[in-house]
Amino acid sequence: MERVLTIFEKADPFSTWWPTIAAVVVGLVITVRTIMSGQRCPNDNQIKEQIVVITGGSSGIGFEIAKALAARGARIILACRNMVEAQRAAAIIKRELGCQTPTSSDDSRSPAERYFVEARHLDLCSLQSVHQFASQLMAEFERIDVLVNNAGIVFGDTRLPTPDGFEPHCQVNYLAPFLLTQLLLPHLRLAEQGRIVFVSAHAHQAAKIDFDDPLNVGTWAVKFHARDAFAHSKLAVILATRWLARELKDTPITVNCCTPGLVRGTRHLRNSPLMSAICVKVITYPWMWLFMKNAYEGAQSAIRLATDPQLKQVTGEYFNDCEIAPTSEAGQDKELAKRLYMQTIETLQRVTKLTVDKEACTMARRLQLPESGK
Ligand SMILES: NC(=O)c1ccc[n+]([C@@H]2O[C@H](COP(=O)([O-])OP(=O)(O)OC[C@H]3O[C@@H](n4cnc5c(N)ncnc54)[C@H](OP(=O)(O)O)[C@@H]3O)[C@@H](O)[C@H]2O)c1
Repeated sequence: MERVLTIFEKADPFSTWWPTIAAVVVGLVITVRTIMSGQRCPNDNQIKEQIVVITGGSSGIGFEIAKALAARGARIILACRNMVEAQRAAAIIKRELGCQTPTSSDDSRSPAERYFVEARHLDLCSLQSVHQFASQLMAEFERIDVLVNNAGIVFGDTRLPTPDGFEPHCQVNYLAPFLLTQLLLPHLRLAEQGRIVFVSAHAHQAAKIDFDDPLNVGTWAVKFHARDAFAHSKLAVILATRWLARELKDTPITVNCCTPGLVRGTRHLRNSPLMSAICVKVITYPWMWLFMKNAYEGAQSAIRLATDPQLKQVTGEYFNDCEIAPTSEAGQDKELAKRLYMQTIETLQRVTKLTVDKEACTMARRLQLPESGK
């Protein structure tokens, strides 16, 4: 022991370069991580009693948004297609935040009073599911304060259309959230200041879009690489955000979109052919850790858009790292935005209604199902 102490006492850290090299490396890693993790939401105000709907809130970025907004006092509805995962996510959030849980199954209070976080079924691959979800929600809640259209897919099979006949990226990332927003608008109008948040992506910059057919109706049945389909759907989200903001300019409702940045540790890349190889995962993990955000960091822009009182008048914008950011040229094209918006309305009208099914609403109200999600 004495020998070891003597070695340490006599050790001269400046006799070799290693300590300096180690310090530089650690400094560099810390700097890169700080820059790549982006900005945190600059406010921490409470949004008590606000009713917030988050699609895809059972995992990844949506889960972090839900947790953060629940912690600020909002009532959270996780709109998810996998109810087991959704219930699990709701339970985790409630446990972590020490939320109220129902005392008994025949509790006479409405679900809105009993829970702070609850799960409902919504499958964006089915427009009928979107209708059912919206009808039940509107029957049960008196208003909706915030809608976060977060759910999304990438690297889906573009050759396999959804049951409604659309290319999957286009429907899950754009058409179905667009329909959901239209259906919930009457309830968002009832809020003091309704907010709609869409989650887009940096990838929109690579999107190919045809002015005469901005929804790519003519091409999605042909050859459409999943990467292009994803980019196109996220550009469509930005354009629709811009035009919807114009349509809602005489209302207190704001509509904005954001990019989470490059985020690791979510299930977003589950269908990526590259990321399914274990050796690629092992090799890329340190780089992903260094250069990508975690889900909490990726959620910050959406959290700001849902909560910041300073953004009350801000609408039709695209956010990155909690600040307004420029989009690609196509993302700023007003004529293209209008054309896409109109084509979307026409396309959806051909396959479904753009108003909520009043009968389904009344039925749901009459039945008063305690877990009317599914
Ligand atoms: N991670 C990134 O680097 C990145 C980059 C840019 C943009 N984004 C966007 O950020 C959002 C969140 O992504 P994430 O990284 O958190 O990925 P994630 O963990 O895969 O979360 C996506 C969520 O969407 C849900 N979802 C997928 N298809 C659905 C459907 N048909 N109906 C209802 N819900 C469905 C998923 O539910 P299931 O688990 O049941 O499938 C999941 O909860 C997405 O819009 C994504 O495009 C992510």
